[in-house]
This record gives sequence, C-alpha cells and structure tokens, in this order.
Amino acid sequence: MDPRIPDLNTVRMAVDLACRAPSVHNSQPWQWTYSDGRLDLFSDRSRLLESADPSARQLVLSCGAALHHLQVAATALKWSTEIDRLPMGEHSNHLASIRFSHGARPASHDFDLVAAIRRRHSDRRPFAPPSADTGFPAPLHEMLRPGTRVTVLDQGARTVLGAATELTAAVRRYDSAYQTEIHWWTGHTVDTVGIPPEALATAEQSAHVEIGRRFPPGTRTSADTPGADRSTVVLVSTEADGRADWLRAGEALSAVLLEATAVRLATCPLTHVTEFGRSREMIRTLLPDDGCPQALVRIGTTAPEDRPKPTPRLPTDSVLTVTARRPVR
Ligand SMILES: Cc1cc2nc3c(=O)[nH]c(=O)nc-3n(C[C@H](O)[C@H](O)[C@H](O)COP(=O)(O)O)c2cc1C
Repeated sequence: MDPRIPDLNTVRMAVDLACRAPSVHNSQPWQWTYSDGRLDLFSDRSRLLESADPSARQLVLSCGAALHHLQVAATALKWSTEIDRLPMGEHSNHLASIRFSHGARPASHDFDLVAAIRRRHSDRRPFAPPSADTGFPAPLHEMLRPGTRVTVLDQGARTVLGAATELTAAVRRYDSAYQTEIHWWTGHTVDTVGIPPEALATAEQSAHVEIGRRFPPGTRTSADTPGADRSTVVLVSTEADGRADWLRAGEALSAVLLEATAVRLATCPLTHVTEFGRSREMIRTLLPDDGCPQALVRIGTTAPEDRPKPTPRLPTDSVLTVTARRPVR
C-alpha cells in the first residue's frame, strides 16, 4: 500500500458520497475512473436529456455538483485535492482529473458539509422564508467559484420568475419530445435513476409553488398545510458560457445546496427557466452584470419532520472503474 495515495476503500467512500450529488432528473450523468492515485471524472452522454438539455449544459452542471461533493468528501476523509478541470480541452467528456495529497485538516464545518451530503434532498413543496437565525444567505463568498456569481434575488424578481415559468410551461405543454422525456424519467417507481413519486410534490403542493418546474404529480407527504411559497431564490450565474463555466457553476450550485442544508434549510434547484432560450433571457435581466444564468435554487424552511427516503442512485461499482496499478519495472 502506498501511503501517498488513497486506498481503494477511501476512494470508493468518496465517490459514493460524490454520487449523492443532485443531477438533472436524477440522471447521474457521470463516470469515474481511478488509476495510479488519480481519479478522473467523465460525463456520460448516454444519460443526456436530449429534449430538455440538448447542449448538455445541465449534464455538465450535474457533474460539477458531483465534483464539489467529491472535494467535500475527500476533505472530511483527510485528503486534499488538486483538480485539473477539462484536462483534454473544451470538447472532451473528460471533465476533471483529481490528484490527492494526504494531510487535509478538516474543520468542524467540513464535517457539517459532509453530513449535509447525506441529508440534502430536493424538496418541491412550498417553503416558509429562511429563518433569520440561520444567518443564510450571508456566507455567499463560501459558495463562489472562480468566474461564478451567486445572486440573492429580491421579492420583486418573483414576478419575472413567475412569468418565465408560465412561458416555459406554455411552450412545453405541446412539446411531445419534452413530455415523453419527463414522463420517462419521473413520476414512477425507479431502482437506480429518475425521480420517484415520493420525491415529487402533490398537485396541491405544486399549485403553491408558482416558480417550479411542472412535474407529474407526486405523493410527497407533509406535516404542513401548504400555503404560498415564500422561499428565498438565489441565482447561480457565470461570466462566460462554455463547458468550463458550466462545470464551475455546478460546483457553486453544490456549495449553495450544502451550505443551506448544513443550517437545516430546505432547498430545490430550478432550471426549467434557464434551459429555454427566451425564459433564460428574462432571468438574465435579474443579474447585476451581463452574466449567463445557469441555475436557480429555492431555499426556505419546512416543518421539522422525518426525512423522505433518499432518491435512488446507480451502484457505485457501475460508475467507478478501477484500473490496477502498472507494475514497476
Ligand atoms: C443541473 C440540475 C438541474 C435541476 N433542475 C431541477 C428543476 O428544474 N426542478 C426540480 O425540481 N429539480 C431540479 N433538479 C434537482 C434534481 O431533480 C434532483 O437533484 C434529482 O432528482 C436527485 O434528487 P435529490 O436532489 O433529492 O437527491 C436539478 C438538479 C440539477 C443538478
């Protein structure tokens, strides 16, 4: 065993936690390989959502979220990471190469974040506002990645968000490819990928979230009688709009979700309005710069209650390939 590189158990543990990351429609479009102490992340285009995500932007965002989860997991396991993003250039599916060095000294907040990986889930019910004692969304600088911006939208922005949601709902209603795709991925019992009914809001709950994606109605239980959604919405954007920016935006999205979860807030990513050109332009007007909107997150409070069953994931062994070390000659 070489003490300078993590053993297989450690890598499996870190990848297992990384794969708890959110992904569009729970498609989990990632593959990992581990060889000679180096972990590589690839996007898996066989799980591309051809209709909702033809440019593969959300596919790369999802991989970016997994990459950030991996960094959080590695730190808690006392390994520092050095990441080479897009080592083969903009057009390759090879999104990151990760090298490890031993000796990270995790602080208690790092353990809070790793606990948040296990607790986080997308909650599509209406929220009460984030309580003031969480301090959220104050530590925004923690969530930034180079070239990304995280903007807290004011209540006035909800009119634009509502109008953008209406626009996409109207266009998507008669888009049979989109409807077939969303019904394939969501709303029925699934073993490894997709969104089961228990993770989707009921029709009554959804009716109170005027800025949410329109999914098939689900069966998510709630101790609350739903009232109007009063979440805070944050917008993750980037300076430019290439793959490297999408990857960083996914990392920032993951940081927002984990920081919010760590202070016991409920979260839900939203991209129905950023995946469609005209509504994305409407969202761009909410930015203080001329940036590129990548994803929104609803953040708020729900009644304390049992955590729902986690959404399924592919077995780690089906997304992690380990290549034996080359013998030293
Ligand atoms: C790039 C991206 C886009 C997403 N878009 C939406 C969305 O528009 N609406 C929504 O309710 N959830 C959205 N999600 C959340 C996923 O549906 C969710 O992460 C996935 O189903 C796994 O469930 P979990 O987050 O509870 O683990 C998105 C997640 C990612 C990473």
